[in-house]
Amino acid sequence: MLNEVTVTRYVTPLREGGSLPGLVEADDLAPYVMKFTGAGQGRKTLVAEVICGGLARRLGFRVPGLVRIDLDPVIGLGEPDQEVQGLLKSSGGVNLGMEFLSGALGFDPLAYEVDPVEAGRVVWFDALINNVDRSWRNPNMLVWHGDLWLIDHGASMIWHHNWRGAGAAAARPYDAGDHALAAFAPDVAAAAAELAPRLTEDLLAEVTADVPDAWLADEPGFDDPDAVRRAYAGVLLPRAATVHERITLPEPDPDRLPRTPGWLTGTATLNGGTR
Ligand SMILES: Nc1ncnc2c1ncn2[C@@H]1O[C@H](COP(=O)(O)OP(=O)(O)O)[C@@H](O)[C@H]1O
Ligand SMILES: [Mg+2]
Repeated sequence: MLNEVTVTRYVTPLREGGSLPGLVEADDLAPYVMKFTGAGQGRKTLVAEVICGGLARRLGFRVPGLVRIDLDPVIGLGEPDQEVQGLLKSSGGVNLGMEFLSGALGFDPLAYEVDPVEAGRVVWFDALINNVDRSWRNPNMLVWHGDLWLIDHGASMIWHHNWRGAGAAAARPYDAGDHALAAFAPDVAAAAAELAPRLTEDLLAEVTADVPDAWLADEPGFDDPDAVRRAYAGVLLPRAATVHERITLPEPDPDRLPRTPGWLTGTATLNGGTR
């Protein structure tokens, strides 16, 4: 079960992303990035964050720790920004909090080298959860204390928007052509050999148990929250076994391979290009 804290102060919106997460403080005196049940993308975004973030952590990726974060909508009353006020007012109850990585930088493929093993692990994981939101345009990775951290899994597991077609999702391919780490020669075969056997029924039961009942209640076609939890596991378990066979990566392109940036080697040209 995730730890539970309560929001004491809304600090500021984080406007880089689309869902308007907020930086807040909680009653344990820690800062959190908060994602709201009342956001336009809906509560399934939060379910995806809990399941994928929990899986990632248990598979050894660096991801911010998660908490359930309780919000009294009264916190929104003094908020001058109308959009933020609306979000706070419509998100009373349990929301999602993430450990705030203070001072983290957005991942930049020209400034940060990723080895093929790590790149392969990330691409394999994103294929498993069908994450379409880790492209080079929008990497959703941070560099913190010199290490790569994964964030923002809200747009993954698209099959949970149409459970009737979810049975086929396990076999769906994954196009990693636009993936932020595609140019780092990801070794997905090694990642599959290491990670797929670790994705067991027990692990999935543990991860899905962390999703608050309130976010799974009244899902059409399901009797109760536990039945929805089993449906998530029912896609991820078979997908883990074979997804590496269906990952499309671009042919290695020597010109796109990451290199030490020109400002480090002294080869930067006046128009900003590098040799
Ligand atoms: N745990 C975190 N620590 C520090 N900064 C974060 C964290 N999570 C998100 N951010 C910052 O907030 C931005 C938006 O968060 P993200 O989870 O990507 O939300 P969205 O769904 O809106 O894209 C990120 O691009 C990043 O700059
Ligand atoms: Mg994002």
